[in-house]
Amino acid sequence: MGCAFVPAAVPAGGRHGLTARQTPTVRPRQVWAGGQPLAAPAHGGRLQATCREAAVKVATADEAAAVPQAVAAAAASSAVPPPSKDLDWATLGFQFRPTNCYVRHTYRDGAWSTTPELVAEPYIKLHIGATALHYGASCFEGLKAFRTADGRVSLFRPDENAKRMASSAARLLIPEVPADLFLSACKAAVRENVEFVPPYGTGGSLYVRPLLFGSGPKIGLSPADEFTFLVLVTPVGDYYAGGPAPVTAIVTTDYDRAAPRGVGHVKCAGNYAADLLPNTLAKRAGYPINLYVDAADQRSVEEFGTSNFVGLIGNTYVTPDSPSVLPSVTNKTLATLAEDAGMVVERRTVDIGEVGEFEEVAACGTAVVITAVTRIVYKGDVITVGAGRGSDPEVVGPRFSDLYKQVRGIQYGEIADPHGWCFDVYDE
Ligand code: PLP
Ligand code: COI
Repeated sequence: MGCAFVPAAVPAGGRHGLTARQTPTVRPRQVWAGGQPLAAPAHGGRLQATCREAAVKVATADEAAAVPQAVAAAAASSAVPPPSKDLDWATLGFQFRPTNCYVRHTYRDGAWSTTPELVAEPYIKLHIGATALHYGASCFEGLKAFRTADGRVSLFRPDENAKRMASSAARLLIPEVPADLFLSACKAAVRENVEFVPPYGTGGSLYVRPLLFGSGPKIGLSPADEFTFLVLVTPVGDYYAGGPAPVTAIVTTDYDRAAPRGVGHVKCAGNYAADLLPNTLAKRAGYPINLYVDAADQRSVEEFGTSNFVGLIGNTYVTPDSPSVLPSVTNKTLATLAEDAGMVVERRTVDIGEVGEFEEVAACGTAVVITAVTRIVYKGDVITVGAGRGSDPEVVGPRFSDLYKQVRGIQYGEIADPHGWCFDVYDE
């Protein structure tokens, strides 16, 4: 399973110049658990076998450089390891489940480590002065890996997540993770946990969570000298209980998600800390999802707590144009598919008063995929999306159903991927 080597750098295409099929540079890797070499395995089950096997297979750089073609060919021809038999794939939901290991890189003395560490225990030993803990110097990403109809395992648009993490890092004065390092770490994390990628046909995926934070100590407010980049994975099913059924959203009117010129457009951890209270209040009131409006005008639709807002009307795909909305990879994907189908894509201000005019509204994001929102509660009034336009609030509208099928079809390798969005994790 490509256990002997993990690519540490992929020069072809350079930074942000990734393509779905890349020329590999294969380097040796070291395997560690909790900072210690895995000479005396401390963990049970299959992980021990995997990591011990890998540890003894560490090669010199010269040996590694001599074999990239052979490794790539072997990886391509060998069967992808099957899913675990110990998980009930039908009832995964969206929660953390333990896996074999996570992948870690550290930034010290002005450079990122190039050798990925595979850490078996799900803990980090962190300095008590780490800037992530005190000053929220932390950002993350979310993407998914899928088992495809023809037995491959692929990541969906990781190049986009690499770019977005670079933009989050720039805003937080965290050193950028080069796109090639980001991609190789994500691929390694999936490969090392491949039995947790749900079986094709179950509707599940392996959620991949890259995390980047200040791990060095500072007590005065300033950027850290040491940073940690890690990629953890966990198998997931539906984000909202009830699967693809439509949901009712509530507009959060007592709190704002993001200030103009703030950090709403980047995926920093603090945005989610700020959303926890409004999000929890919404859930307690019976609404699985909350919608934010612009902090300044209190009317223009921004986005949901963990996903973008999209409305469809006639032949037009509408999504709010706001500098404080997180640029969603899913939204970008759907907009492209809509354009491919001849629809017009409009990025513009959307007033809360017009949301009922849309024929269909959805929340879109990696975790929620496309979740139809058919009712929106605003200041005590229930706005029914598409009321008077023949839309049925109990069912997902036909065009979002179609877009959902298309995006899932591409992710599961059932239909063509003309834009090159799927990256095979064994393709080096
Ligand atoms: N908006 C917010 C605030 C999010 O947390 C997410 C999830 O990542 C999204 C939008 C959707 O982004 P993406 O489609 O890239 O997952
Ligand atoms: C995602 O969709 O990947 C997200 O990051 C949302 C998360 C808060 C669950």
